[in-house]
Amino acid sequence: MAHDYDRLVDVENGTVSREIFVSDSIFKEEMDKIFTRAWLFVGHEDLIKKPDDYFVSRMGMDSVILTRDRENKINVLLNSCMHRGMKVCRYDRGNTRAFTCPYHGWSYSTDGRLVEVPGELVGVPGFKSYYHEKLEKRRWGLIYCPKVVNYKGTIWATWDENAPDFLDYLGDMKHYLDAALDNRDGTPGGSEMIGGVQKWRVKCNWKFAPENFIGDMYHDISHRSVDLVGIGPSEGKGRRDRTLNRTTVSFDDRGHGVIGTLPHYEEPPFQETYKNTPAIADYLKDVYDRRVANLGSDMRVGTSVGTIFPNMSFHGRQPRTIGVFHPISPTEMEMWRIFLVDRDAPQALKDSARHYYMRYSGPGGMTESDDLENWQYATEASAGNVARRYHYNYQMGLGFEKPVPEFPGASENGEYSEGNARAFYRQWRKVMSSDAPTHFVRPGTNSGECETAGADDCTSEAHNA
Ligand code: FES
Ligand code: FE
Repeated sequence: MAHDYDRLVDVENGTVSREIFVSDSIFKEEMDKIFTRAWLFVGHEDLIKKPDDYFVSRMGMDSVILTRDRENKINVLLNSCMHRGMKVCRYDRGNTRAFTCPYHGWSYSTDGRLVEVPGELVGVPGFKSYYHEKLEKRRWGLIYCPKVVNYKGTIWATWDENAPDFLDYLGDMKHYLDAALDNRDGTPGGSEMIGGVQKWRVKCNWKFAPENFIGDMYHDISHRSVDLVGIGPSEGKGRRDRTLNRTTVSFDDRGHGVIGTLPHYEEPPFQETYKNTPAIADYLKDVYDRRVANLGSDMRVGTSVGTIFPNMSFHGRQPRTIGVFHPISPTEMEMWRIFLVDRDAPQALKDSARHYYMRYSGPGGMTESDDLENWQYATEASAGNVARRYHYNYQMGLGFEKPVPEFPGASENGEYSEGNARAFYRQWRKVMSSDAPTHFVRPGTNSGECETAGADDCTSEAHNA
């Protein structure tokens, strides 16, 4: 059934249908159109530090393996054997010389090859005796993502060979992501993960989470309980740091958005905010000065929290986190959180970040659990035969958007507005309304062929390497 996305997502009038949060057929279309085309966050370089390290991730409904191969190249491989589809890796993370399929034993190197190399445990059992050496192993390596980028320690991939380059995909949202990732010295590898990846499942539609992180300042009431009893992140002063003059900025041409400061903002009062921990105040002041120096211009932004379309969100100030929202079904997602701290931060800051994460984030955290409950009940209460006929209201701030002169294609929406959510769903509608096919590549280290019918003009570097 073809869906009328202009009717379902009428952000020009500030309404979005509940159908897009509960419908099976829309969910299947999302997986096909959004999750095979978009740049997706798949992991952090800290998870694959050494050659032959791997980390199992997801891209939409597909299991993928993020690897660092023997040449130190980062790959994203489909976790499904080319013989009968068995998962070739059933662990979360580790180090291996080869992925050996448990079903019939085909074995792939960490760059996805099936081609035997002397001394490596790669190849096909019975290649001589059963296959009579007729199997063209070069063509039966694992499917790989044609475009993979390590952006300041974060690893991104897309299945679509025709996708724009990652920096084009980010647009001016880059400034805000940089403010989160380039926290100190502006070089990759400046951050380290605290602990592993927290993973848990929530019975909600996946879009509730990126929408919340893109700019929902309005839901403070959800977290009132920890504030009221004085155990919230700001010691009873409320959750928002009022010293930063934040606003919401939407990148209407791309669907990204952020709660942050505009390109020119004054130095925050670190000493006042961290008066009980001067080591942290001094460090953050140093970070700020370096960031301004690194940028080499008077443009600077501050990031609180933002979303990169479709399913990655991040906190940009201390403490810094990455959230990923993996769709499982229309009414279930798997949520991941990664916690980051500067490698050379003082121990006081590392300790304070670790305490913050344990106390407030994740399924057991005092504030994150509030959000999870809202998203779960909202999904459940929207799935009924009557409820799903109606639209949600996204009218806050409609008509009050202002341009940001430094960022063409972006809008400043004020502190409390649903402008960022409207931008997210406008992009969702654009991608869902497009019939452009995803341009896949076939496996094969040097003889791959494009899966897309008639696509014989493929010029992928990965493909032709
Ligand atoms: Fe993997 Fe048969 S399914 S070797
Ligand atoms: Fe919240």
